[in-house]
Amino acid sequence: MDDLKGKYLGQIADAGDENALEAIRVAAVGKKGEVALKMRELGKMTPEERQVAGPALNALKDEINSALSAKKAALADAALDERLRTEWLDVTLPTRARRQGAIHPVSQATEELTAIFAELGFSVAEGPWIEDDWYNFDALNIPGHHPARAEMDTFYMHRAEGDNRPPHVLRTHTSPVQIRSMEKQGAPIRIICPGGVYRADYDQTHTPMFHQVEGLAIDKDISMANLKWVLEEFVKAFFEVDDVELRFRASHFPFTEPSAEVDIRCSWDNGQLKIGEGDDWMEILGSGMVHPKVIAAGGIDPEVYQGFAFGIGIDRLAMLKYGIPDLRAFFDSDLRWLRHYGFAALDMPNLHGGLSR
Ligand code: PHE
Repeated sequence: MDDLKGKYLGQIADAGDENALEAIRVAAVGKKGEVALKMRELGKMTPEERQVAGPALNALKDEINSALSAKKAALADAALDERLRTEWLDVTLPTRARRQGAIHPVSQATEELTAIFAELGFSVAEGPWIEDDWYNFDALNIPGHHPARAEMDTFYMHRAEGDNRPPHVLRTHTSPVQIRSMEKQGAPIRIICPGGVYRADYDQTHTPMFHQVEGLAIDKDISMANLKWVLEEFVKAFFEVDDVELRFRASHFPFTEPSAEVDIRCSWDNGQLKIGEGDDWMEILGSGMVHPKVIAAGGIDPEVYQGFAFGIGIDRLAMLKYGIPDLRAFFDSDLRWLRHYGFAALDMPNLHGGLSR
C-alpha cells in the first residue's frame, strides 16, 4: 500500500496537464484502477485482516483523490496566470500610435472669434453661400452699373437659356447676411456671421475661396465710437495681448457711410509673419456705419435706427495669430501642414479657459 501511495502521489506531482491527471485518476482510483482491484481482494481476507486493510485502502483512496483535486486546482491557476501574462493589454495606451487629424486653423479661429463676440453680446447668424445678386449687391446699395461689382471679381453661376430667375453668384462677401438677418429679426439686432466667400483672386494672401465674419449691430443709439471700441476689444482678445496697433483708414464701401478699413501692424522678415511689430500693415477688415439705404432694404426704418457693420477676413486673422505665411496652404489639404498648424480636437476655445492653448 505504501508502494501504491508513493507511486501515485509522485505521478500526480509530475503531471503536466489535466489529461495526464485524468489518466492517473483512472489508473489509480477508477472503477478498474489499482485501488479498486485491491478492494476486491478484501473478500478473500479474514475478518481481522479486512478490518485493517479496508480502512487503510479507503484512506489511500481519499488521499489520492485529494492530491488529484489539489493538483487540478494548481494546474488551473497556472493556466490562468499564463493567459493573463500572454493576453496582457495596456488599456492606458493611446488608441492610435499618432494623432491623425487636427482642427484646421480657420475652424479654430472661427471658434475663437465666436467665443469673443458671444461675450460682447453677438449671436451667430448664417446665410447661403450661393446668393442671388439682389442680396449680394443691390440690397447693399451696389446697383448693376456700380464698379464694385467688377472690383469684386465675382463668380457668376451658369444660367440655362430661358432661365429668368435673378442671376446667382458665389457670394463675394458675408454682407448679404446683414440683409437676411434684418429681414428675419428686425431691430435691434446684434449678430456675427462667419462663413466662406468667393472671389477670383490668387496670390500669397488671396485665394478664390476664403472666410469672413460679418458683424452687424443696429439700435437707436449706435455710433462710430461703438464700432471702434468693439473692434479694438475684439482684436486684443483674439490676439491675446494687452495692446495691438490698429490703423483705421478712411475708405469707401457702397453699404457703409462713413467707412473705414482697418490694418494691423506686422512684419514679414525672412518669410516669418509676426503681428504687433515691424513696418508692414496687413488689412484685416472693412467697416463703417450702415448706409440708410441698406437698413431700409432690410425692412428697418433708417429714421429710427442706425448701426455699424464690419467684415473681417478670418483666414488673415489665423495667418497673423499663428504665423502662417502663405494663405494658399490653407486649402492644399496637406496632412503634414495640418498636423503642424492644427489644433487638438477636444480643446474648446473660451475666454475664461483660454482661447488657444
Ligand atoms: N463686405 C466688405 C468686404 O468684403 C467688408 C465690409 C463689411 C465693409 C461690412 C464694411 C461693412 O470687403
